[in-house]
Amino acid sequence: MATPHNEANLGDIAKTVLLPGDPLRAKYIAEHFLENPTCFNTVRNMFGYTGTYKGKKVSVMGTGMGCPSIGIYTYELIHNYQVENLIRIGSCGAACTDLKLSELVFAMGACTDSNYAHQYELPGTFSATASYELLHEAVHKAEELSVNYHVGNVLTSDIFYTETPEWKSWAKMGVLAIEMETYALYCNASRAGVRALGIFSVSDSMVTGEALPAKARQESFTDMMKVALETAISF
Ligand code: HPA
Repeated sequence: MATPHNEANLGDIAKTVLLPGDPLRAKYIAEHFLENPTCFNTVRNMFGYTGTYKGKKVSVMGTGMGCPSIGIYTYELIHNYQVENLIRIGSCGAACTDLKLSELVFAMGACTDSNYAHQYELPGTFSATASYELLHEAVHKAEELSVNYHVGNVLTSDIFYTETPEWKSWAKMGVLAIEMETYALYCNASRAGVRALGIFSVSDSMVTGEALPAKARQESFTDMMKVALETAISF
């Protein structure tokens, strides 16, 4: 059934969906990594495609930036389209020196400065965590593909252009990297009892100020895609 943001019919979307922030990236992935992709959504240009990878049905859809946007799209994927495995693929900024540009980060947990979880009226602070099954499989695939990776906590921040360098306080708590969507994704998945994982490639470093040039960005993106797709078809 169509939603205000997604015109797909039930059955158009695979039970496993890869989720880049950028809808044009979803289009690129569908056209370069999937076999026989068909577009299921163009509402607000938030493109979504379903195809196959190594013969297994997989979908890919943009989420937009930030918790409110990924919150909407993933809520609908879960509740209106029966999606069971949600794998965010994105970029992140390194908050510690251990992370080198291009390396992968698997978000075992996500901290946040967002109030996304206030809706659940919990009597405390919710720790948003990845699906252990997806995380375990992604680590296994990264090992098989000899791709460098880190597993740990990320910060899902509401604010890209901050007045104060808040990442420094989070880094003291062992947070590896900063991005803007995973906390909401993990909340939606946890609340519904489905699986979610955030996979990132390090595009820039808060610590050193370096940023990946376009070509290297594309290469690390390909590694991330391979790990994500191999993980996706295991479920
Ligand atoms: N901040 C937030 N999100 C990001 C960053 C960043 O520095 N880099 C890539 N995604």
